[in-house]
Amino acid sequence: MGQRIQGTEDLYGGYMRSWEHMQDVARHLFGTYGFDRIETPALEQVDTFVHGIGESTDVVRKEMFRVFSGALLDDLLAAGNESGLKPRQRMAMRPEGTAGVVRAAVEHNFVPQGGTPAKLWYAEAMFRGERPQKGRLRQFHQVGVEWLGASDPAADAESIIMLMKFYEQMGFSPANMKLMINSMGDAECRPAYREKVKQFILDHKDQMCEDCLERAEINPLRAFDCKNEGCHAVMKDAPLISDNLCDDCRTHYEQVKAYLDAAGILYIEDPTLVRGLDYYTRTVFEVEIPNAGVGAIGGGGRYDGLVELEGGKPTPGVGFAVGFERIMLALEALGVSAEPAAPSCVYVACAGAEQAPVVFDAVLALREAGIRCEADRTGRSLKAQFKQADKMGAALCVVIGPDEVEAGVVTLRDMESHEQVQVPSDQLVAEVKARQ
Ligand code: HAM
Repeated sequence: MGQRIQGTEDLYGGYMRSWEHMQDVARHLFGTYGFDRIETPALEQVDTFVHGIGESTDVVRKEMFRVFSGALLDDLLAAGNESGLKPRQRMAMRPEGTAGVVRAAVEHNFVPQGGTPAKLWYAEAMFRGERPQKGRLRQFHQVGVEWLGASDPAADAESIIMLMKFYEQMGFSPANMKLMINSMGDAECRPAYREKVKQFILDHKDQMCEDCLERAEINPLRAFDCKNEGCHAVMKDAPLISDNLCDDCRTHYEQVKAYLDAAGILYIEDPTLVRGLDYYTRTVFEVEIPNAGVGAIGGGGRYDGLVELEGGKPTPGVGFAVGFERIMLALEALGVSAEPAAPSCVYVACAGAEQAPVVFDAVLALREAGIRCEADRTGRSLKAQFKQADKMGAALCVVIGPDEVEAGVVTLRDMESHEQVQVPSDQLVAEVKARQ
């Protein structure tokens, strides 16, 4: 028997309804902020992610699922390495949405120079080769937004406000959420800060783990996220970006905070918040549900250099993504039900084979009127049909037997009260609609 791959999930039943609900919330809410939906391919050239997310990130170095056709894989194994591959033959499943959306924006020129910003949202599966555990999957689902062409701190603030509204509409209360923000500086001030952190790590190299020593060379800021307790303790004294921002970045950050204050959004400044993707500049943010034990339920930030890295003209950008599976786990931990009820349904029961054509017509008429309905197609007894109607959660059952056909009526049975009334066949649709 085939089995799904560890760290992947089948979405069905109530869980699927929850995923659809999340997309509905996104469509309505993000729509009011002027965002339109986009879908980019799950497969992209490796270079799109290397340029955007950064060669030194864990996501690119360790977690990206690479894809080869069978024929290409044979050639590759024979050659022993991939140096002969053309860029278009080097493919990967997307580990996140931003790089692909920015690639599409460059390819289709969504933001012509000086043009109107592009505001896009997506709801898609992402793929990361991580060790599966609670809230950490290899295929998971994100809802995200990317706002290209706006450098104003109001855009950062609006994105964060929209994110917090999104969580509220999904069932979280502001009191349960912890929003952390930081500024990571820009090309002006970050390089010198990176050097400082690198030097700090090297000055404490006896107390740091092997991974952090490697990070010092390729991505020193990631040492702030090291899970090793020794490193964590050392990094508490490391230089902070908040003390190393240039004037422009500081002013931008102050303005973002002023907008958040004005909107009454509660946040915690965390100068060690660095995020795991290299493209961020200035504002970054993450949301957690304390004690839910699932990690961040979403995060994002500004990425003013990314469009250029993907081959476009300099264009600022800001966005975020939330993780569907983690949101579901966090709501569950809080005891909030996030599963929309199954849609109500009308069951049309057939007393005997002779009434089958009448039942057939009734079902068609109900569906034509947009009413979800079901009928038996397996030759069950009337009793078994009632049982099935109950199991399906039908609120109403239409019973059609010889007496009904003779009298030109149908029997309507309320499945909860078991009350029965007869209505003329030609008024069935109107009567069912009136009861819904
Ligand atoms: P990220 O922080 O890597 O950011 O992912 C966003 C969210 O996706 C996380 O907060 C988490 O809820 C969920 N997530 C990430 N990895 C996993 C996993 N392995 N299993 C389950 N859920 C996961 C980004 O992806 C950026 N593209 C966000 C962004 C958009 N920044 C700017 N624009």
